[in-house]
Amino acid sequence: MLENKKIVLGITGGIAAYKAAELTRTLIKAGAQVRVIMTKSAEAFITPLTLQTLSQGPVYTNLFALTERYDIAHIALADWADAFVVAPATGNVIGKIASGIADDLLTTTLMAQNKPVLVCPAMNDKMLANPAVQENIGKLIRFGYAVMESGVGELACKTTGAGRLPDIPDILDAIENLFLPRDFAGEKVLITAGPTQEPLDPVRYITNRSSGKMGYALARAAHQRGAHVTLVSGPTHLPAPRVEKVIQVRTAMEMHQAVMDCCDDATLIIKAAAVADYRPKAQALQKIKKDRGMTAVELARNPDIIADLGARKKKGLLVGFAMETEDLLDNARQKLVKKNLDMIIANNLREEGAGFQTDTNVITILDRNGKTIALEKMSKLEAAHRILDHVRTLGAQKGSRGKK
Ligand code: CTP
Repeated sequence: MLENKKIVLGITGGIAAYKAAELTRTLIKAGAQVRVIMTKSAEAFITPLTLQTLSQGPVYTNLFALTERYDIAHIALADWADAFVVAPATGNVIGKIASGIADDLLTTTLMAQNKPVLVCPAMNDKMLANPAVQENIGKLIRFGYAVMESGVGELACKTTGAGRLPDIPDILDAIENLFLPRDFAGEKVLITAGPTQEPLDPVRYITNRSSGKMGYALARAAHQRGAHVTLVSGPTHLPAPRVEKVIQVRTAMEMHQAVMDCCDDATLIIKAAAVADYRPKAQALQKIKKDRGMTAVELARNPDIIADLGARKKKGLLVGFAMETEDLLDNARQKLVKKNLDMIIANNLREEGAGFQTDTNVITILDRNGKTIALEKMSKLEAAHRILDHVRTLGAQKGSRGKK
């Protein structure tokens, strides 16, 4: 998503400046072009040579430096950039930007530009809580800057509190957000993800190979586009995404309950979870011993959560997934109709680059109007955005599923 995007990274003088090296590396890996501006105090924490090596480009430190070229650095950088990131941003620099002070290359460049800017504050917890700093952060937000919330945890000064530089993947997410439309602002999106586990006894359970990656990517994408996201997740090994609400469940029955509890005000529901269709009829309270000679497990049918949602015919759009190993499109279309969905995302477990554990997917989108869109292999996050793009198109046609 950041392929060929031109990012100016401003580094200011806090201990978290060393993490800017990792951020630079991550941006380059994501395909971005990076130019670094360092303040004088940042140079006390990390050397320009480190940043030059990692960014594969010049590092700018001095407002009045004579360079081989005649262009004025702050104007040239302001024109060149697609976006600006200040990470870490000290209370001092936040104060300067908020007050219209431009007394070094970074603050002058920021004053001279009109591109999206992300500010990532990092400082001691008491400094962050200082009313002047809080007021300045508020001002930046009012001026239209994107300001990240600092992380909470152990700080360099050995206290624990708010003020850590947010984690690099979260900063990367926020940088991607700068380039995304906020076309889901005001929407309430409910997403399910991951497998369910159906216990047989305290030790064993029935499950499937779902990793949750597709559902988590959808939650992230919807959040990036401004939606209020609730994620209902079965057991996964993934870190919880930064969304409004994450509800962890284990069984299909628990997922059914959680979804029914929060589906009413959802304007979009996407059921990416791989729900177990059956559960052991009886769940032993103690471990089942092998001497019992058990050779068969009696199963009970789980509720079909999405079919229940389809039958309730509420407002908003309902999107399902179909994971198949044969007759992909026929099976998917049948599920679309039978479960009263607006859209279904078909993926074939047997296709290279598709399926449960991978970071990529190969999907075909089918909608209630009979449209079929086959997409090439792409990352699950990109696929998530393409799904949301189609939701947008379908939503614009304004046929609620209640009208069917
Ligand atoms: N689904 C659900 N509740 C279930 C089973 C499935 O909500 N008990 C949802 C899935 O989240 C998915 C869609 O239904 O969005 C299709 O799931 P899939 O497993 O492909 O289909 P099934 O209806 O279970 O049919 P089958 O297993 O026979 O392919």
